[in-house]
Amino acid sequence: MNWSSLAWCIFPVKAKVHGDSILFRLQGKVAIVTGGASGIGESTTHLFWKNGAKVVIADIQDELGQAISDKLGENVCYIHCDVSNEEEVINLVDTTVANFGHLDIMFNNAGIVDRPFGSILDTTKSDLEQVLRVNVVGSFLGAKHAARVMVPQRRGCILFTASACASIAGMATHSYAVSKHGVVGLSKNLAAELGQYGVRVNCISPSGLVTGSTAGQGATPEQLEAGLRKLGNLKGKILRAEDVAKAVLYLASDDGGYVSGHNLVLDGGFSVVNPTILKAVGLIQ
Ligand SMILES: NC(=O)c1ccc[n+]([C@@H]2O[C@H](COP(=O)([O-])OP(=O)(O)OC[C@H]3O[C@@H](n4cnc5c(N)ncnc54)[C@H](O)[C@@H]3O)[C@@H](O)[C@H]2O)c1
Repeated sequence: MNWSSLAWCIFPVKAKVHGDSILFRLQGKVAIVTGGASGIGESTTHLFWKNGAKVVIADIQDELGQAISDKLGENVCYIHCDVSNEEEVINLVDTTVANFGHLDIMFNNAGIVDRPFGSILDTTKSDLEQVLRVNVVGSFLGAKHAARVMVPQRRGCILFTASACASIAGMATHSYAVSKHGVVGLSKNLAAELGQYGVRVNCISPSGLVTGSTAGQGATPEQLEAGLRKLGNLKGKILRAEDVAKAVLYLASDDGGYVSGHNLVLDGGFSVVNPTILKAVGLIQ
């Protein structure tokens, strides 16, 4: 045993990483983060790594994904994977297990939006199919091939990024809303099947935040942030990718060890409040 592994035995729960004193909640775990090159996936990759996990970034933005892996070092690697392509998902999971020995966390996070809003009359069949291919088929394939290795292990954690638009209507296009309802349904159905093998399955459902998928939709990041501040129910704060990553860490770690079949909505209470009532009785303006 060398000095660094001896130190891990004596001080297993706390260490210094880049000056921050943090808990190692994922020590010894191996995670795949799809869509890990940007936004929520990138923040989650960083947080998982800081918490001691070995992380595989799966994305189609090769330069961004490789750059994150190069920066974080040997416990993070990048694998090109289009989540809607089953051969590439099989390669992703099998390469991860070959390199790191096992797979503990599969975060099916990659997703696309077709456009901010739109009538069904403007929505084409190919818009719908494209969004479903990445958001639903991609999530299905990631979960299926993760389950293939987690079931024999008798443990594991499968996570999905859905959206608050699966809880409240009118927040996104029909294609996107259909896709995220599908992800929530898949997550719950899988939790029912995989619990017997010790595999937990959960969803995270953020409301709006500024990332790659919301940028470039006709507004600057500052305009988007201003809009989110105005719309949000919880004042004084807006949702950021780092906040989503912290919630994902909770579900991925032993802290969430008895949570399964849950859709954790991160929206500052937006989807449970009808502001028209509060306005009508004069409690808010
Ligand atoms: N930003 C928001 O307001 C918001 C709100 C709710 C849910 N979400 C969901 O969060 C997830 C992450 O999105 P984000 O906001 O971080 O956006 P993002 O665009 O920054 O990240 C999405 C990542 O997915 C990757 N990706 C896209 N298609 C892929 C494919 N076929 N195979 C592999 N990777 C692919 C992209 O290259 C990108 O790196 C998505 O599922 C999105 O629908 C976002």
